Amino acid sequence: MIRIYTTQKDYNLYRTNLTHNSVGIVATMGNLHEGHLSLLQKSIEENTVSVVTIFVNPKQFGPTEDFDKYPRTLDEDLNKISNIALHASAQYPEKEIVVFAPKNIDEIYPIGFNTIISVGGVTQSLEGAKRPTHFDGVTTVVYRLFKIVNPSNAYFGQKDYQQCIVIKKMVEDLSININIHILPIIRNSDGLALSSRNQYLSESERSIALHLSRTLKQIEMLIKNKKDYTSLISDELRNNKWDYLEVLDSKNLAFPQNQTKELVIIGVYKLGSTRLLDNILVSNL
Ligand code: PAJ
Repeated sequence: MIRIYTTQKDYNLYRTNLTHNSVGIVATMGNLHEGHLSLLQKSIEENTVSVVTIFVNPKQFGPTEDFDKYPRTLDEDLNKISNIALHASAQYPEKEIVVFAPKNIDEIYPIGFNTIISVGGVTQSLEGAKRPTHFDGVTTVVYRLFKIVNPSNAYFGQKDYQQCIVIKKMVEDLSININIHILPIIRNSDGLALSSRNQYLSESERSIALHLSRTLKQIEMLIKNKKDYTSLISDELRNNKWDYLEVLDSKNLAFPQNQTKELVIIGVYKLGSTRLLDNILVSNL
């Protein structure tokens, strides 16, 4: 059984009656795939109550981006969640799954809402440089969702690696008492990271898209074998399909230093108007 709430008022009534001490949140924009569902599975394992939020957040889309065309598939999403709930109820009969899927934007941003949560530093490079207002939109909505859902644990995908770093920084700077868990990227068998935006790709673009994960893998092998990777990156960047392709310190997205323990190989590859994000974490020791 899953509970579905579309207003804060109804969710609050439920939340205040909760005696459970562990609530996990999986924040999504819907159009759920195995990547999202892996976060939910982990939350179910680790919490008594798991709340999936489904909200296509207008504030994180730029004026020329795909807010209007972003796939909205609530019925299919609820089916997928119900399916997981069904399996979970056999293994963990005491656990609950809740969906918070506001129908109206003013559930999240009431009329007159006039606050922006804006993290500095780590938001300026990579996605932040290409999409200047994006992370303010992400942190503002995630802060709102954290306040509404009141979770103890939050689950995010490594797929959006910079988003994870930005949210961790917000949580640290604002002393928000929520544990942030970053879970591995779920991929297709050919290596392409699952993404709601993959469905925008034509058949020929879909096969060219594999160049993204393959290039990241190639760089990973060079790093593991202690070989130079910079010339591969500069060769690749001559191809204007890349928005960026970089190897950075995974902790803070700064340029790697000798003492850097772990690297993130991170890139965005463009096919038509679709931007595909991917990254790989690799030890620098
Ligand atoms: P969305 O793109 O729907 O992603 C929701 C969560 O699923 C994010 O934490 C994302 O990193 C994770 N995810 C997406 N693809 C994944 C994959 N292939 N493997 C593992 N995890 C994956 O990210 C957002 O929504 C929004 O920015 C949000 C945080 C909900 C704020 O609006």
